[in-house]
Amino acid sequence: MHVLTVLDHPDPGSFSAAVAQRFMDGAEAAGHSVELADLNAEGFDPRWSMADIEAGNQAIIPADVGKEQERIARADAICLVFPLFWWGMPAMTKGWVDRVWSWGWAYDQMDNPEGSLQRPRSGVLLIPAGARSDEMKRSGYLSALEAAWIKGTFGYFGFSPRRLELLYGSTGSLKRRQSLLEKSYQVGRNLAAPRKTKGAS
Ligand SMILES: Cc1cc2nc3c(=O)[nH]c(=O)nc-3n(C[C@H](O)[C@H](O)[C@H](O)COP(=O)(O)O)c2cc1C
Repeated sequence: MHVLTVLDHPDPGSFSAAVAQRFMDGAEAAGHSVELADLNAEGFDPRWSMADIEAGNQAIIPADVGKEQERIARADAICLVFPLFWWGMPAMTKGWVDRVWSWGWAYDQMDNPEGSLQRPRSGVLLIPAGARSDEMKRSGYLSALEAAWIKGTFGYFGFSPRRLELLYGSTGSLKRRQSLLEKSYQVGRNLAAPRKTKGAS
């Protein structure tokens, strides 16, 4: 498979960057080709703007959005790596999602999360998070993320199967971080093939 990793972190020395690298190492070890979209290093503009609206009205795709869509088009699997910020996505990832996975290209209706216009792609979210797993479950944050991302957003984008891996305790000890990096490697090594979902178009 061809595997696209989308990284959102401004610091190349960050834990998130290391997670993305270990995931790609695992994917390569499994025989896949890999490609990295480093959104901060590449200077992707996450702001949905009047230019996007005007382009949409004229059925034009903005150049930077088109470049991202081409990367997605050649991928069979996509892995998003971003730190959990306020129980959601950081602004860069949010803007990438908002601008790139556009109406008419990714989806054309909002009543069937399995009805993407895109071909099925294996989808993985690798999310460093400071919190512990029991805190996230008890507070309801985990089920909120599963509803918003796994059932919602990434269903509309054709991610199938979709896997949410929260890397809990990412600010913890070196030992803890090493085990999370090993987990990231194994997720890449054991990446599932895309599969068509029931109800997908
Ligand atoms: C602005 C901001 C918001 C954050 N919000 C959360 C949060 O809602 N839940 C959580 O578990 N951790 C949260 N964290 C912690 C980060 O997810 C964690 O530190 C992560 O490891 C950061 O990625 P890095 O280690 O690659 O820098 C937040 C950190 C920052 C800077």
